[in-house]
Amino acid sequence: MVIFRASYQFHKMNNTKIAGLGFYVPEKIITNHDLEKLMDTSDDWIVERTGIKERRYVDRKTETTAILARKAAERAIADAGIEATDIDFIVFATLSPDYYFPGSGVLLQRELGIAEKGVPAIDVRNQCSGFIYGLSVADQFIKSGMYKNILLVGAEAHSLGLDFTTRGRDVSVIFGDGAGAVILQPESNPKKGILTTHLHADGRFAEKLAMLSPGAHAGIHGNGEKYGITGDEEFETVIVNEKMLEDALLFPYMNGKYVFKFAIQKFPEVIMEALKTTGYNPTDVNLVIPHQANLRISQYVQKILRLRDDQMFNNIQKYGNTTAASIPIALSEARDEGKVKKGDLICLAAFGSGFTWGSALIRW
Ligand code: ACO
Repeated sequence: MVIFRASYQFHKMNNTKIAGLGFYVPEKIITNHDLEKLMDTSDDWIVERTGIKERRYVDRKTETTAILARKAAERAIADAGIEATDIDFIVFATLSPDYYFPGSGVLLQRELGIAEKGVPAIDVRNQCSGFIYGLSVADQFIKSGMYKNILLVGAEAHSLGLDFTTRGRDVSVIFGDGAGAVILQPESNPKKGILTTHLHADGRFAEKLAMLSPGAHAGIHGNGEKYGITGDEEFETVIVNEKMLEDALLFPYMNGKYVFKFAIQKFPEVIMEALKTTGYNPTDVNLVIPHQANLRISQYVQKILRLRDDQMFNNIQKYGNTTAASIPIALSEARDEGKVKKGDLICLAAFGSGFTWGSALIRW
């Protein structure tokens, strides 16, 4: 007991604050009309079902996920008034990493020119919830006193791996490229910064929104035949094979109706969880920034929680669904537009592949 008291007094727990933020989206704008030229779709269909009017795609000659991340990170670093060399930990959330392995965190570290410092980098693979998961991980490291300047980035280069034929239209029209970054630092005022985070997952639905191959599943969780895997050959390569290429199994798959049903249930649930834990009501929140999954999902959530229009931030119309990047892009843009001010109560929430979902409540 004596030992516990001594160590507790030695380390006073801090909150975590967002000390800087920034985002980067590629210059190339792809409108719904551009997609009409590639597949059987229409501006009306896309706008009606998703709210998306345009999205950005990387320059294929110069941009990767890690490079988008670096561009967003440089802005967040400048915004926080620190140098890249001050960063002591990197958290990188993405579902479209540059390589199968290693993760993009080390590439970002190299891009930022701080590799020689040996700054540790962790990759978070929680797709649409990746930023919230990363925020919660970073929050624990700041609270414990282990790190003082964490760079958390969500970045995606979806356009490099989508099926642009009519076969893939239900997924391809939704996603866009971009990156958002924050710098996290200790906050000594216990009433400010990140007040609470909540993380959840339900692996029963892992295949409802997924890119299964290339992967080491060996056809075991699902139907081996579908992937051209018989299991008869001891040394057969099963991570990727010709059948997967021929049958377009190397593209993301989404059961849209299933995702919609769960999303409109879990978003309100996890937002209310954060509010109840801290003793707040939806009316107390200045701005909810949901993962930009689909404008229809956000509108549903707004209706269920009875939020006014000015309490809900949406920018999916311009960028599409940028998965792990969507919340930091939206948060940055909202702040730049004067919609996130000192003293505001900001709620971040996400739902996505896994299924995974989460929320964070922040006193700005
Ligand atoms: N353009 C034109 N027609 C299309 C397109 C397209 N891009 N995609 C599908 N269709 C067609 C289908 O083939 C189908 O045609 P059919 O009736 O002749 O068979 C018709 O449109 C209706 O298809 P559904 O799949 O039934 O369309 P639905 O009304 O369910 O809308 C959508 C699809 C928008 C994906 C919807 O299910 C949805 O909003 N789901 C939520 C999932 C989502 O938005 N996820 C975001 C990413 S995941 C995340 O971030 C959490």
